[in-house]
Amino acid sequence: MTNEQITIGVLTSGGDAPGMNAAVRAVVRVGTNKGYRVIGIYRGYQGLFNEEFRELTALDVRDTVQRGGTILYTARCKKMMESDGPARAAEILKKHGIDVLVAIGGDGTFRGALAIAQNDMNVVGIPATIDLDMACTDYTIGFDTAIDTAVEAIDKIRDSGTAHERISIIEVMGRKCGSIALWSGIASGAEEILIPETYDYNDKALIERIKEREALGKKQHIIINAEGVGDSEALARRIENATGIEARATILGYMQRGGAPSALDRVKASLMGEQAIECVMAGRMNRAVVEKNGKIKDIDLAEAVEAKKEQSRDLLGVAKNLVRKAN
Ligand code: F6P
Repeated sequence: MTNEQITIGVLTSGGDAPGMNAAVRAVVRVGTNKGYRVIGIYRGYQGLFNEEFRELTALDVRDTVQRGGTILYTARCKKMMESDGPARAAEILKKHGIDVLVAIGGDGTFRGALAIAQNDMNVVGIPATIDLDMACTDYTIGFDTAIDTAVEAIDKIRDSGTAHERISIIEVMGRKCGSIALWSGIASGAEEILIPETYDYNDKALIERIKEREALGKKQHIIINAEGVGDSEALARRIENATGIEARATILGYMQRGGAPSALDRVKASLMGEQAIECVMAGRMNRAVVEKNGKIKDIDLAEAVEAKKEQSRDLLGVAKNLVRKAN
């Protein structure tokens, strides 16, 4: 592909993740430095259907690397789910002279990108989601910042929980994946981490463990509950009724998606954005940028979408082994 013929469209889609701006910036800066034209597509696939296209220059992405959210805005798009949605999306991209679509987002974004690719459009996906729920990659942009945000909040709740000698149930995001819960739970010294991949919904066993720890003199307990397990308020009531210890639930919610991206998220997003442009330069299309074993590379998009995530046994093991069982 000769540079002057190529126009790249870039969008962010699905839940925003800190570092998305750094990825957009890298696509725009590296892309325009290589001589490509870069068009920003606003509000994800929804904006694509509404034809919200605007050319982006190197200047347009100044002062964005440090900002959370996404300067391109984002949305969840029902139209992409319609049977002719991807074909219509590909048509609109062609109408605007887009040769390659760079889609930045999570699992749903990648599925949308693959469906567009199947309608004769070149695409490259960059993984960005706080959930770290994509099997194709060891790293997703936004996860590092999100767990730092969660840990900061959990530490504060711990202070209050210790003062009141109560049980604190803290619900973190992650959809059906327990990564945020596992990482933030280990980092904050939680007594219990409930994740959808392993939790058996056996309240009885959980309550027994709380009682055993009380018998050891423990006066406050941190229970990290993944969104995929959910029901934190009801769980708090059940635990309080069964143990006689005051229990309070806090749902951290959207604060986990906000804030300035960590340096790690900024750097990885920059590397991933650059890798997407490398795909374009090399004519490698319908690719997913991923990190595997510490290396940023690109793999076949269909293969990336099909991969199934498993939780790390090391993390699951250490989360259990770190809990105090004796004085
Ligand atoms: O995928 C990111 C995420 O924040 C999930 O953790 C959560 O389940 C979901 O998005 C919430 O989505 P929405 O923004 O549509 O409420």
